[in-house]
Amino acid sequence: MTLAQPDFASVDDVVTRFAEHGYIADHTLATTVFLQTRLDKPVLLEGPAGVGKTELAKTLAEVTGRRLLRLQCYEGQDETKALYEWDYGKQLLYTQVLKEKIGQLVADADSLGEAVDRIAAQESVFFSERFLAPRPLLEAIRSEQPVVLLVDEVDRADEALEAVLLELLGENQVSVPELGTFTATTAPYVVLTSNNTRDLSAALKRRCLHMFLDYPSAERELEIVRTKETGLTDALATQLVDVVRGLRELELRKSPSISETIDWARTLAVLGATELTAKALSDTVNVVVKYEKDVRRAIEALPRLVDPNATLDEGPRGHGHGHGGHDEHPSPSAASVPRDPDDAEDSGPRGKDVRAGKDAPGRHDDGYYGAVSSPTPAGPATTPPGTPAAVRPSQGSRSFANGFGKKKAVDAPRGRR
Ligand SMILES: Nc1ncnc2c1ncn2[C@@H]1O[C@H](COP(=O)(O)OP(=O)(O)OP(=O)(O)O)[C@@H](O)[C@H]1O
Ligand SMILES: [Mg+2]
Repeated sequence: MTLAQPDFASVDDVVTRFAEHGYIADHTLATTVFLQTRLDKPVLLEGPAGVGKTELAKTLAEVTGRRLLRLQCYEGQDETKALYEWDYGKQLLYTQVLKEKIGQLVADADSLGEAVDRIAAQESVFFSERFLAPRPLLEAIRSEQPVVLLVDEVDRADEALEAVLLELLGENQVSVPELGTFTATTAPYVVLTSNNTRDLSAALKRRCLHMFLDYPSAERELEIVRTKETGLTDALATQLVDVVRGLRELELRKSPSISETIDWARTLAVLGATELTAKALSDTVNVVVKYEKDVRRAIEALPRLVDPNATLDEGPRGHGHGHGGHDEHPSPSAASVPRDPDDAEDSGPRGKDVRAGKDAPGRHDDGYYGAVSSPTPAGPATTPPGTPAAVRPSQGSRSFANGFGKKKAVDAPRGRR
């Protein structure tokens, strides 16, 4: 393995160069990145949606001039597809073209067994690098140019993928049973991200620099909004960031993320907002909250968030409880939100439990982090709402083997060493 020139001179260098590429990293995050590049360790970023996990990997690639290879994880992913596959089409083409030659090879065989043995003796021709189709993990290891490997949303994949990752993460290598072990000439910078919808294995965590990336401080979020040139004045952006932070404190199913703050700022700028009134925010709140109940709860809270001294209108209500002042300013977003039968439960203390039960998001729900009203005190990490699919015993079939010699097919290539 060759030792390249260090990419960053210091932690401050990380902060500065990331900022030049539009990514605002705080000191802790910059330290993690700096250490990753110096200790040759993968980084595991966990945190809610939209806090800049994926963006960090993209920016790291831009800043260091490395190519970005991305493995997007999903449920039921065949872990072998993340590593490599045998190019079945190419293998088949070659056998077709070489039909005559193969025929000659077995022409004088006395028995079927002998013919099969002769073909088997040629297997290494077909299981050679020529027919290897590298997928992101192997590609990252074999790449002659240094790369950044992003393993995005690793918690969505099954545990089998984690097992496949361990060798790469720990030793920068990938083993292909038929060919041997590939080792990286330049270690890739590996960034794994997780929304923490299930616990990742201790073995995986041990191999990584772990960082929990949370919503940013008000200062950093304002800085991020500024870099995006949303068109909103600084004063309004400052106020808006405070409002969003207030919304994050509500019991929303999906809290607004940084990207939603940016979207909101752009929306308000386009509408020519000159001050942030509860009405202007209510009219556009659907930019940042995406669930019907969240919208209502946000609209209810906005007058207070805009002006902490605002008194809520406790006037008569058809359904007998206060919904803040938004009824005085019916808004498109409020109007577009249909009422649902369990509305009556929505703001009472018992309704919270009912809601939590109903809203329990799925394992892959974007809003998982926003589900602060989880009825179980154990929280997301220890009580994953979905049961992970069982680990498949097979590491995936080898297509050529399946097509070429059915008898040996199923596990033959994997077992052959
Ligand atoms: N520190 C930051 N500096 C600049 N922009 C940021 C930062 N953090 C987040 N953003 C903005 O927020 C957007 C969303 O970030 P990103 O897609 O990386 O979130 P994520 O954490 O990967 O979310 P998810 O878990 O939903 O994939 C980015 O496209 C970027 O515009
Ligand atoms: Mg992401």
